[in-house]
Amino acid sequence: MAEITVTINGRQVSAKEGMTILEAALENGIDIPTLCHHQDLTPLGACRICVVEVEGSRTLVGSCHTPITEGMVIHTHSDKVLATRRMIVELLLASHCGSCFMCDKANICELRKIAADLEVGLPRFQMRKNYYPLEDISPYVVRDLTKCIMCRRCARACSEVAGHNVFAIAYRGFDSKVVVDFDQPIDKEVCRDCGVCISFCPTGALGKPREAKEEKRGKPLIITS
Ligand code: FES
Repeated sequence: MAEITVTINGRQVSAKEGMTILEAALENGIDIPTLCHHQDLTPLGACRICVVEVEGSRTLVGSCHTPITEGMVIHTHSDKVLATRRMIVELLLASHCGSCFMCDKANICELRKIAADLEVGLPRFQMRKNYYPLEDISPYVVRDLTKCIMCRRCARACSEVAGHNVFAIAYRGFDSKVVVDFDQPIDKEVCRDCGVCISFCPTGALGKPREAKEEKRGKPLIITS
């Protein structure tokens, strides 16, 4: 692939034709936060956390799915970019369930890490939250849709990595959500023990059942006196 030159944050760098802005930035040691993006999955551009400023472009562009072109001048951390990223995180947190302290993914939650990096605390907005019952009838996966940020990494990982198609997106606007089998709870009939979706979920929306974790740690499931 041909080498092309772009300018990122005032520095001229070379990258390969066909790369996205995100890939070119990462290759040159520039970190751009991402949520819906995962290197093993097809880019989707759902969350917009990765937006950057490209000179000559009317709007900010998603770096994870925008290819670089010769002579592009890109700003990954301008005031406008940072203000936009903070607003996106704030909006995500405003509709999030807000139980981070009790969440199994607390310290490895990607949303929480990005919020901390961008110094976003409690959101200013009072937003309607979607509350869904915790789904824990499957022996393989526990699902809490109140923590879902609609990044669709689970759906893409299930189809592209595991080769299944358990998940789909249904409904519209604020009501849209990741569904299984015409919006049924996940149970052992539809989802087997591959765990792929759990490992790709950036928040606590998908997790392993507690019993499975305890078993792995070698603790007894039933304690008799
Ligand atoms: S990481 Fe690029 S749009 Fe989500």
